[in-house]
Order: sequence, then C-alpha cells, then structure tokens
Amino acid sequence: AALTVVAISGSLRRGSANTGLIRAAKEICEESIPGLHINHVDISDLPLLNTDLESDGGFPPAVEAFRAKVRAADCFLFASPEYNYSISGPLKNALDWGSRPSNCWGDRAAAILSASGGSGGSRMQYHIRQVGVFLDIHFINKPEVFIKAHQPPSKFDSNGNLIDPEIKEQLRETLLSLQAFSLRLESKPANSE
Ligand code: FNR
Repeated sequence: AALTVVAISGSLRRGSANTGLIRAAKEICEESIPGLHINHVDISDLPLLNTDLESDGGFPPAVEAFRAKVRAADCFLFASPEYNYSISGPLKNALDWGSRPSNCWGDRAAAILSASGGSGGSRMQYHIRQVGVFLDIHFINKPEVFIKAHQPPSKFDSNGNLIDPEIKEQLRETLLSLQAFSLRLESKPANSE
C-alpha cells in the first residue's frame, strides 16, 4: 500500500504559497509517485491550545479528529512560512495539540518546505527541527528547499499555485527522499506492497 503523508500548511491565508506547495506535492504524487498518498490536513479549525479544553484525556472534536489523522500518518510534510524568525503560530498550535499525551507525532519521518520572505524560511525550518526533537519526528536532511516567495520572477500565481518548474522538481526530489527515508524507518523494502 502507498504511504500516507499527512501534509500540513502553516499558513491559513486563502492565497497561501505554502498551501500551494502542498497542492503541488499532491499533484506530483498523483502523477508520478504511486507509493505516496498526500492527505492534506487543514488546521484552521483547531482551537488555540488550552488544556482546560481537555477532559479525562479527551479533546474537543476538531482536536480529536486532527490527532487521529496524525496518528494514522506514515510520515509528514510541513510547508510553512517563517513568522518573526520562527514557525507560524498556527503550525506551532497544531504541533502542540498533537503532542498532548499520548504524543501522536512520534517515530515518523518528515520533510519541511518553506515559502517565505528574506531567507526563504531557513530559520523557521531549523526551529521546527528543534521542536521535532521532543516530538520524536525524524526530519530528512536533504534536499533543503527554501523558497524566496516574493523575489521575482513569480513562483506562484495570485491563488498561491506553484508555477515554477525548478521548484516542482525540488519538490519531487523532496518527496522521493521522504519516501525512501520513511521506508527505511519502517524497514520495508521499497518494492513491498
Ligand atoms: C512574516 N514574513 C516573514 N518572512 C521571513 O522570511 N521571515 C520572517 O521572520 C517573517 N516574519 C513574518 C511575520 C508575520 C507576522 C507575517 C504575517 C509575515 C513573511 C511571510 O513569511 C511571507 O509573506 C510568506 O510568503 C507567507 O506565506 P504564505 O501565507 O503565502 O504561505
């Protein structure tokens, strides 16, 4: 069976470039990587983290649904802007909800993409790696994809759809690297069912 990649965008903006990266990744998988299935999980309906909302280990319905999807993932794909040199607030909120006992993120592979200003989101990427230490997420190291979203020529259209063929190829390489590492973690040969 194909590996299920839970893909999360750290931007809730309608025309988000990062959400566009996830749509592009989904298309690439559907067209040419049959071993990967992208499940784009929307985090916009999660409440702000407040442990008062928990009762006897139970969570609000939107949080329960989110945690179930995270638990069912074989691996993760994060695409997030950098906000003030770090992870976006919405993404950190989602990571935190998924970390509440018992941690839903553990022992899976993950890849990070960022479309951002200045450095293309490198500082955000190194921050999420640090958070991932405690969550026990195993990030792939290569390729690193830092997209300077606002530098000409345009890489996204006004709806946030990726239009740059070079970035599409980087995305494809990232997905193949994520697949290979995820299979190694699961100790399955690449050609198993
Ligand atoms: C930003 N942006 C930004 N960019 C960057 O490279 N480094 C940064 O520290 C910040 N800080 C920051 C803070 C806040 C509050 C906002 C709203 C924005 C710019 C941002 O990363 C950029 O506009 C992204 O392209 C937005 O991504 P989406 O929404 O298109 O996916």
